[in-house]
Amino acid sequence: MKTMLNIALPKGRLGEKVYDMFEKAGFPCPSIKENNRKLIFENQEVGVRYFWVKPSDVAIYVERGAADIGVAGKDILLEYNPDVYELLDLNIGKCDMAVAAKADFKDDRTKTLTVATKFASIAKAYYSSRGREIDIIHLNGSIELAPILNLSDVIVDIVETGSTLKANKLEVVEKFLPISARLISNKVSFKFKGEIIEKIMASLSMQTEM
Ligand code: PRP
Repeated sequence: MKTMLNIALPKGRLGEKVYDMFEKAGFPCPSIKENNRKLIFENQEVGVRYFWVKPSDVAIYVERGAADIGVAGKDILLEYNPDVYELLDLNIGKCDMAVAAKADFKDDRTKTLTVATKFASIAKAYYSSRGREIDIIHLNGSIELAPILNLSDVIVDIVETGSTLKANKLEVVEKFLPISARLISNKVSFKFKGEIIEKIMASLSMQTEM
């Protein structure tokens, strides 16, 4: 039986773009386009098996070898620092990590700053490099609510179009980290399935230059 390459795709809009890139690279799996709730799709002929994974979980699947390769945002890689190889910047899923707050926010440096975020580690590193004392409030989503309800002074979150901030009357204080999607590989898989992984990498890399 042919060895299969297991690929974790981030579920959602970005994942569909990523799949199209893999398809163009010569690793199609037409059944993935069927509109159903299935999470695993394979094409034995070309030797690939795709999984739809929650975007923030891709790195865990790859680190632990449940997937050989996958696509994860640089935000997740910086936040969790998984033990994987980062092979390629796919130049898609571009956004920025930013500090945002209400329009009338002024930083009072005599007080500890409260920061609501999903990205505690990134936020800590950012403020520690500025010598600013903070208190992290760890949230899992809808971060924009926190300053509005005075749960925090600021948020550290991803800004793409800026429309979520605008709709909630928040403003960017500083964009401090550009983010994009990265191709990552399990370290052992890279050794034993290196040939096919490098082939995919080369073809994806050509597509990112177009
Ligand atoms: C992300 C992020 C912002 C939004 C930014 O949220 O946390 O809320 O996207 O995008 P924009 O600048 O284009 O408006 P996501 O949709 O992942 O949901 P979440 O609230 O669960 O974090």
